[in-house]
Amino acid sequence: MAQDTERLNWAAVAAANGHARETSANSAPEAAAADVVVRVRQLVRRFGARTILDHVDLDIRRGEFVALLGHSGCGKSTFLRSLAGLDYDVVGTGSIATPQPMAVVFQDARLLPWKSVLDNVIYGLRGPAPQLRGRETLREVGLEGRESAWPSDLSGGEQQRVALARALVRSPQLLLADEPFGALDALTRLRMHSLLGLLCQRHRPAVLLVTHDVDEAIHLADRILVLNHGRFSIDVPTLLPGRDAATTVRLARIASLRQQLLQGLGVRPDDAPPPEHTRAEKQAIAAPSPATNEAPRKAA
Ligand SMILES: Nc1ncnc2c1ncn2[C@@H]1O[C@H](COP(=O)(O)OP(=O)(O)O)[C@@H](O)[C@H]1O
Ligand SMILES: [Mg+2]
Repeated sequence: MAQDTERLNWAAVAAANGHARETSANSAPEAAAADVVVRVRQLVRRFGARTILDHVDLDIRRGEFVALLGHSGCGKSTFLRSLAGLDYDVVGTGSIATPQPMAVVFQDARLLPWKSVLDNVIYGLRGPAPQLRGRETLREVGLEGRESAWPSDLSGGEQQRVALARALVRSPQLLLADEPFGALDALTRLRMHSLLGLLCQRHRPAVLLVTHDVDEAIHLADRILVLNHGRFSIDVPTLLPGRDAATTVRLARIASLRQQLLQGLGVRPDDAPPPEHTRAEKQAIAAPSPATNEAPRKAA
């Protein structure tokens, strides 16, 4: 569901969840701090005796695409829900500051079956010319001409495109996505990767993408987090060389990052063999990576 949380007032959410109000204890330089749109401090979330998030800190900068990896059940969705202000039933402390508007996309599209595609996209949308903005966003996600279709007439991938349109039409400063491609077949998933990458480059929201797919994270994100035992055990910039860089350099960076992340997730190389590579690619992967100092570049 691309839920419009525009009306969520952080102070109210914080009070409802028993959060401490944010203090001015942030020691980051002012210029960098001004660019921070998400600030999480000492976030704790518990279910019964189990601590799922254990004093987590995180800053996300304007326009930054962050992927969050972790084992099933480690607390990724709990973290995302806390940012969305949707964790009503959780015991916790800490502070969270998020920008408005923000939008959430889940694994299932959560469309209203009795509303047309366009009406789903613009449902609850405020501001001028909602129909026009809805149509324009549907065009962006490749659904021009399907405005009056019913959700049940769409494929799973198309329904997720509608969910993405419903999120983007609100021009979110923060897009929260919880395994949005998890239920799609492999080919549709790849198409959706490209689409999400493209749309995020165009609209530049800050993004937190929860996924269990290491390759999805590497190809989409500027920065990757691994959640382990309630903490971020890895927080690494992707630093992928651009498409104009030598293929070997790019592949070497992808391979070293992949290895680091799999290791961080406790996956042995034997458990996750890399995709089949050509001989040139294998040589590149075997070579030390000279690319780690390059400026970050997001893959399309
Ligand atoms: N409402 C809840 N009540 C009790 N336990 C919960 C609740 N929501 C999640 N959990 C538990 O918290 C842990 C983390 O869940 P979740 O954040 O959904 O994991 P992930 O998204 O990483 O798979 C899991 O063990 C899950 O069973
Ligand atoms: Mg989850």
